[in-house]
Amino acid sequence: MLLKAYIASGLVAVAAAKVCSVKPLGAGKDDTDRVLAAIDACGTNGFTSFAPGTFNITRKMTWTLNNAIVDLRGTLSFLPDVTYWLNASNTYRVVDIQSQASWFVVTGKNFVIDAHGTGGIDGNGQTWWDYFATRTRLDGDGRPIAFTLFEAQDAIVRNFKIFAQPFWCNTAAKSARVVYDGMTCNATNTNPTYAGQNIVPNTDGINTYRSDRITMLNWDITCGDDCLAIKGNSTNIIAKGITCRGGNGIAIGSLGQYVGQPDIVENVTMQNLRMLRLPTQVQPNMKNGVYLKTWTGSVTGTPPTGGGGGGGRVHNLVARNVSLDRVDFPVHLYQTNSGHSADAPSQLAFSDLRFEDWTGSVTTSNKLVDIECSPAVPCPGVRFDNFAVPPPSGQAPRFICVNVVDEVGLPAPCNATGLP
Ligand SMILES: *[C@@H]1O[C@H](CO)[C@@H](O)[C@H](O)[C@H]1NC(C)=O
Ligand SMILES: *[C@@H]1O[C@H](CO)[C@@H](O)[C@H](O)[C@H]1NC(C)=O
Ligand SMILES: *[C@@H]1O[C@H](CO)[C@@H](O)[C@H](O)[C@H]1NC(C)=O
Ligand SMILES: *[C@@H]1O[C@H](CO)[C@@H](O)[C@H](O)[C@H]1NC(C)=O
Ligand SMILES: *[C@@H]1O[C@H](CO)[C@@H](O)[C@H](O)[C@H]1NC(C)=O
Ligand SMILES: *[C@@H]1O[C@H](CO)[C@@H](O)[C@H](O)[C@H]1NC(C)=O
Ligand SMILES: *[C@@H]1O[C@H](CO)[C@@H](O)[C@H](O)[C@H]1NC(C)=O
Repeated sequence: MLLKAYIASGLVAVAAAKVCSVKPLGAGKDDTDRVLAAIDACGTNGFTSFAPGTFNITRKMTWTLNNAIVDLRGTLSFLPDVTYWLNASNTYRVVDIQSQASWFVVTGKNFVIDAHGTGGIDGNGQTWWDYFATRTRLDGDGRPIAFTLFEAQDAIVRNFKIFAQPFWCNTAAKSARVVYDGMTCNATNTNPTYAGQNIVPNTDGINTYRSDRITMLNWDITCGDDCLAIKGNSTNIIAKGITCRGGNGIAIGSLGQYVGQPDIVENVTMQNLRMLRLPTQVQPNMKNGVYLKTWTGSVTGTPPTGGGGGGGRVHNLVARNVSLDRVDFPVHLYQTNSGHSADAPSQLAFSDLRFEDWTGSVTTSNKLVDIECSPAVPCPGVRFDNFAVPPPSGQAPRFICVNVVDEVGLPAPCNATGLP
């Protein structure tokens, strides 16, 4: 049997010598052994098919896929047992940034996971959000990432649905040449006790880290945090056709959290982006369009919760064709994340940032652009083209540029106060 699949670089043939098919066992049963056995048998040079239905996954799971295709028509439902998963020995810690936990890791080379718009992951997040509604949440506290690609190369993830991620929805770490085409993440609180509150923080659509050539096409993300978060050493990133429903918007960062480990973000192309505000009772936040953030130049505490002092650069980013539905702040750049007034300025340098073809609406602030670069490394090459987001009615727009070497293209001057 010969199966063909489109990998980032072209058509790749996967010689599927082995075929495995798995059906869910049914309510009350544990599917983890059978799922892992199928991947063990057919995850190398093979084809694995998971039938529609719900697979009950009760422990951490790694899929190693080499020259493989997985048809995932069913849903991997992760046991809603918060205290079990919070025990560090029950998750992986392969995502170095902020020591985040993973319950499901996919690794390997030359593979396709096609979920056909029906399959994917159920994170059973409501249990988690309720649990943490009255507890402190910290980075690295063990809340698991729903779907982790780690050391994955030449891979396609297609038409994949993730429902109720407890924490980050996706992470691509130490990976290269991955195309995600069709991804849904939906962290929506349905407990009336918390209506109108954001009890789904940290449910980011994806964090990319130490990865090259990650392409995200046709994403639909409902969350209470960053829709996309492009973190340190993400290079040659493409995001196209991204709908963000609620949350903080699209983030570059945070960067510069780890002193001595420079973060390099270069060549980021994002286009056809939509930011949509949800009804307040469902999700109160729709904060930014695109925002960029670094820690300060001082080290305060240690990661995952503290840090700062890391250098590096963000170079060559474009955000094109962006439509905003009642966001608070369309464009924001700041280098004072978790900072204090006496901190040293960040050494992480931004250059060549372009914002083209922006439309839509804001909520109540007239601060349409607020780019506050570090005095240590002022930003050259900030370009706007057809930035047509109007201020709230009856107000003049404010465009703020601090330590920006040269800005062109805004319809009014951009300077330190934004006020004439
Ligand atoms: C999942 O499997 C466990 C046994 O490990 C079982 O107790 C539980 O009821 C199952 N859950 C579902 C939804 O079937
Ligand atoms: C954490 O899980 C390990 C392995 O299952 C177990 O040995 C240990 O007792 C657990 N720790 C706690 C605090 O429950
Ligand atoms: C997300 O889930 C909520 C709750 O189940 C649902 O009401 C909403 O329609 C879903 N959003 C999308 C975009 O499917
Ligand atoms: C990023 O890449 C540079 C150059 O390869 C390396 O020096 C740096 O440590 C990396 N940083 C991180 C956060 O991995
Ligand atoms: C960014 O793109 C340029 C032009 O294609 C390329 O020369 C450069 O190597 C890329 N940077 C990285 C870090 O890959
Ligand atoms: C701009 O993005 C929207 C989706 O938000 C898309 O429908 C439209 O075709 C895009 N326009 C262009 C010129 O690509
Ligand atoms: C900001 O721009 C306005 C209009 O050009 C100008 O009057 C004002 O002096 C500028 N303020 C600063 C602090 O540069």
